[in-house]
Amino acid sequence: MTIAADPSAAEAVAAACLDLGAPGVEEREGAVVAYFALAAGAGHPAAGDPEAGTGDDAAAAAAQVLASLEQRLAPVRAAFGAAAVGRPQGDTVDEEDWAEGWKRYWRPQAVGRRLVIVPSWLRHARWAAGGRVPLWIDPGMAFGTGDHESTRLALVLLQESLDRLAAAGPRPLRVLDLGTGSGILAVAAARLAPASVWACDQDPMAVEVAAANAAANGVDGAVTTAVADLLAPRAGEAGPGADLPGPADLILANILFPVLDAAAPRIAAALRPGGLLVLSGITTSQREPLAVRYEDLGCRRVASVSRGGWSALLMRREPPAGRVAP
Ligand SMILES: C[S@@+](CC[C@H](N)C(=O)[O-])C[C@H]1O[C@@H](n2cnc3c(N)ncnc32)[C@H](O)[C@@H]1O
Repeated sequence: MTIAADPSAAEAVAAACLDLGAPGVEEREGAVVAYFALAAGAGHPAAGDPEAGTGDDAAAAAAQVLASLEQRLAPVRAAFGAAAVGRPQGDTVDEEDWAEGWKRYWRPQAVGRRLVIVPSWLRHARWAAGGRVPLWIDPGMAFGTGDHESTRLALVLLQESLDRLAAAGPRPLRVLDLGTGSGILAVAAARLAPASVWACDQDPMAVEVAAANAAANGVDGAVTTAVADLLAPRAGEAGPGADLPGPADLILANILFPVLDAAAPRIAAALRPGGLLVLSGITTSQREPLAVRYEDLGCRRVASVSRGGWSALLMRREPPAGRVAP
């Protein structure tokens, strides 16, 4: 259903569609597009099944959705004016033709104590309810919807890290997000704390997506993005690693074990003494060897979290002997 909507009424129109059960809603310029599932079988008769639905069923189901939607839109028209909310225009699409069908299943989700991840096409003020900070994310083709355990575990430890760093007194933080993907961790850090974040990925497409998500969340002034391969040799050096702009108060790295392992010296060296490091993207059986790898480089274990076979580590770079980290 496409409903022409004045920008002032778009959120209310989107809310009416969601309340009616639309699993996906997109706010476009001047219109709200909402997807509704028609009753199973409607318009898609299975071969050889006389009980299966017909095109008439599809028309009847669509008419029913239209009538219910008109009912829901009536109070919105009353509040914003009839000119602000157009009549819904319906069309039916086959599931397989629905190129972005996956978006239907991606719902806002709370993570940890302070965050809620909201698909950017469901941008709606009510998701900010409950005092949680919303992250508006459109991952495009990049990794990082927040659905994957490695991202969720990293976000949980990110919140814990910020609490620990804040306990040492309020000050702007230097944060690195290595393997930023959609930019979800970088955006979260910049939304939760006064921080300047450097976010990199080896994939230029991901870097573009991360920059767009930072802008969509109003933190593009705080997040700098860069294409960088953590395993590419630096000029004149044989070993792995790209230049990392430390010293950092906090490093977030949700990448697979081989990269975290090979780039460990460069990552650990980019932390300031007392700085915190979130390592994610590892399976539970990889947690111990990775912790030992970073301990050998002067870090100490602070916490770990695990779920669904995935683990994430929170580590701290030890201050030089005899000094207490700020
Ligand atoms: C598991 S995704 C994490 C995305 C996002 N940070 C999150 O937490 O959801 C890992 C990301 O690391 C990037 N990556 C993998 N190897 C890399 C390397 N050697 N240097 C830089 N980025 C790398 C991938 O392109 C991918 O976007």
